[in-house]
Amino acid sequence: MSEPLGIALIGCGTVGTGVARLLLEQAERLAARAGRPLVLRHIIVRNPHKERPLPWPQERYTSDLSVALKDPEVQLAVEVVGGVEWAREADLKVLAAGKDLVTANKALLALHGAEVFDAARKHHRSVAFEASVAGGVPIIAALTQSLAANQIRSIQGILNGTCNFILTSMYEQGVSYAAALAEAQRLGYAEADPTLDVDGTDAAHKLAILAQIAFGFTVPVESIERRGIAQIEDVDIKYARELGYQIKLLAESWLHDNQVAMHVSPVLLRLLAPLALVRGAYNAVHVVGDAVGDTLYYGKGAGQMPTASSVVADIIDMAVGRAQRTFNTLRLWSNNGAHFQLRPPGTVRSRFYLRVLVEDQPGVLADVAQVLARHHISIASVIQHEVPDEHEGERVQMVILTHTALTGQFRAAASEINQLRCVMAPSVFYPVAD
Ligand code: HSE
Repeated sequence: MSEPLGIALIGCGTVGTGVARLLLEQAERLAARAGRPLVLRHIIVRNPHKERPLPWPQERYTSDLSVALKDPEVQLAVEVVGGVEWAREADLKVLAAGKDLVTANKALLALHGAEVFDAARKHHRSVAFEASVAGGVPIIAALTQSLAANQIRSIQGILNGTCNFILTSMYEQGVSYAAALAEAQRLGYAEADPTLDVDGTDAAHKLAILAQIAFGFTVPVESIERRGIAQIEDVDIKYARELGYQIKLLAESWLHDNQVAMHVSPVLLRLLAPLALVRGAYNAVHVVGDAVGDTLYYGKGAGQMPTASSVVADIIDMAVGRAQRTFNTLRLWSNNGAHFQLRPPGTVRSRFYLRVLVEDQPGVLADVAQVLARHHISIASVIQHEVPDEHEGERVQMVILTHTALTGQFRAAASEINQLRCVMAPSVFYPVAD
């Protein structure tokens, strides 16, 4: 067997603990896969005195990264800390010290991918990042290797396990949003700051990474339109179900006329669509390539051991030498997709779900329909339930599904509808996928 690969683990939270467990408890199996022993030499943590459930002597935990960086027997650092700034500095030091890097830090890559990858190239080092998107689902390997013959046409993903867990619990068990979020946190799916999950930021970070690989397209994360799930109401989940749909938080990107459209949004999916069947904290990514057609990737997108599975796969790829070859060939974050532009969101065509709380008076349906007609938006179906006699003439929910329309025109129509005298609360709308 060849020389051992010496590893420094930076961060020992949920994911780091899983990585250490695999390295320490499955050493023989991993050495056989890598063709050489994978030796964990340092664990760097913020608080070295905290007790951890690992077969690792307490006195060997350290908060001093420099010892690992100076250790000539460390060839690889694995960074699995949350947050961006500290991780960015640590990763740049790792590369400058001549070590390869495995990271699970999607926020870091989405925000500073170019800087980290440039530093790696400058120091003739490599970066692998399978665990940064969709936890245990091997979507990075699929896009960088298995689908290499294709021009990717579209990516549609459930990329945040916390949001999918919350939406599934609300849809299937009628659990409140707050209770479902607390349970997702207890199970270790959510980020340290769960706002990043529920407002769509985490999914936008992951989408930025996938678009980088699929289209060579570097997009500032702030330019990705995003809406999260915190504002989704039970009433919309019920109406969607009645219409034959379920609401999922999707991260979507597709190529059209040299323009890349991207957004993160709650979307109505038909009940039997493959992504609608993805439940709980599972993730799934639907990728369409020009040669292969439709492909689907599915698995646990969050949690300790699924994410550790991807991190350790990267470590094995580094030990074998595959990751270095992929890194050098792909030239990610080097502006190789500069000929593509971000498509203005208003020009994207979609169907829409629209719910408006209106006065229960003559002519109200006609008023709303007229605004839609003026904006060239055709109605596909309408729901308005009879209200009990004692409330007749008060208020009623009107739900409309449209045919395909330009997003810009639909939004203009929705703001005009909000101005109608009969409308009692701002309208709620979501795209509908077909
Ligand atoms: N908070 C993330 C999620 C974890 O819920 O999907 C994996 O990135």
